[in-house]
Amino acid sequence: MRNATITGWGKALPPLVLTNTDLEKIVDTSDEWITTRTGIKERRISHVEATDLATVAGRHALAAAGLEPDALDLVVNATCTPESLIPASASYVQAKLGATNAGAMDLNANCSGFIYALVTASAMVSAGVVDRVLIIGVEKLSYVMDLTDRSTCVLFGDGAGAVVVEPTDEPVGLAASELGVDGTVADILCVPEFGTVGSPGVRDPRRAGIKMEGPEVFRRAVTKMGEASLHVIAEAGWRPEEVDLLIPHQANQRIIDATARRLKLDPARVFVNIHAYGNTSAATIPVALTEALEQGRVKPRAKIVFAAFGGGLTWAAAALTWGDRVTPIATSDAQVPEPDRTVWDVLAPNLEFYGNQERSG
Ligand code: ACO
Repeated sequence: MRNATITGWGKALPPLVLTNTDLEKIVDTSDEWITTRTGIKERRISHVEATDLATVAGRHALAAAGLEPDALDLVVNATCTPESLIPASASYVQAKLGATNAGAMDLNANCSGFIYALVTASAMVSAGVVDRVLIIGVEKLSYVMDLTDRSTCVLFGDGAGAVVVEPTDEPVGLAASELGVDGTVADILCVPEFGTVGSPGVRDPRRAGIKMEGPEVFRRAVTKMGEASLHVIAEAGWRPEEVDLLIPHQANQRIIDATARRLKLDPARVFVNIHAYGNTSAATIPVALTEALEQGRVKPRAKIVFAAFGGGLTWAAAALTWGDRVTPIATSDAQVPEPDRTVWDVLAPNLEFYGNQERSG
């Protein structure tokens, strides 16, 4: 039977760091509040375009799979912060990579985007529609972060993670998945000033930034990530205690802890890196997966559960049996270019836009 398995993985985190202490300089917050309420200590801010991050992550994933870019049939760019709508950002990624034989598309399911893309690509590979897919989860959320709104600006960051999906005859890859959404409450997490609604010429996504009813999103995330995880575990024919690693979307340490408790998993079987990067939406899971592999936390034939919740309001979960190889076939020297500016220089247009320039450092 033809299955689809992950054969390559990679990440690209921009080097500029914005710490909680930095945020204390621009909004009424504290390292203590952010740490205890979210688990986040710092996040990365990109001085390059999201497609540059995507390309670096993609090069690492291709090297890990032992593939050249022209071997790809499809590039899927999971993002809710596209560089442009026409063309789709994926076109720029395809060009920067030199993936000359690939189709390319963006996929937007907000924070659940990577799992939606993994399920889509795996189904296409299993069905024989395509052979080799590069999936990238990438975000430049700093662009729409209202740096005057303490309830949202402390949560988000920039970054990219990528995987390659290829066919296999082994009984590995996705064992079960769930994709869900409740569009009736979509407005409780949104960027209101964007898209084709309203008068032409006045809409700029930065005008309103990200708006979120945090506690309500929190409540729903806790419920849905736990339910969907248990559902895919059961559908895969696994018992929760057999799960080797839960790789959850990194939005809030307390949401991760609640999901782990629901599955009765001890912390050693839950991957967390939220302290270092915050919420990078579609990028959190592929970045976390890459770091889990780098740290030797993915064993051959490991039973892995991915779970996410976010804008839409979408949720998604997947139960995946890893293959036999847990080390890269090759490595790439691709890296995000060194910044020629400070993090404050990069954030200056945002601070100016939101009318808050009180800062130092
Ligand atoms: N610093 C200090 N105080 C703050 C801050 C801050 N950064 N932000 C809010 N507060 C205050 C509030 O004003 C409030 O004060 P009050 O009691 O005097 O009114 C108090 O802290 C509590 O605020 P809550 O919003 O109730 O805090 P909560 O514990 O719910 O944490 C948070 C807020 C972190 C946003 C949480 O609700 C959360 O994580 N929500 C889910 C986020 C998420 O999963 N998003 C989905 C993905 S995003 C995407 O798809 C792009």
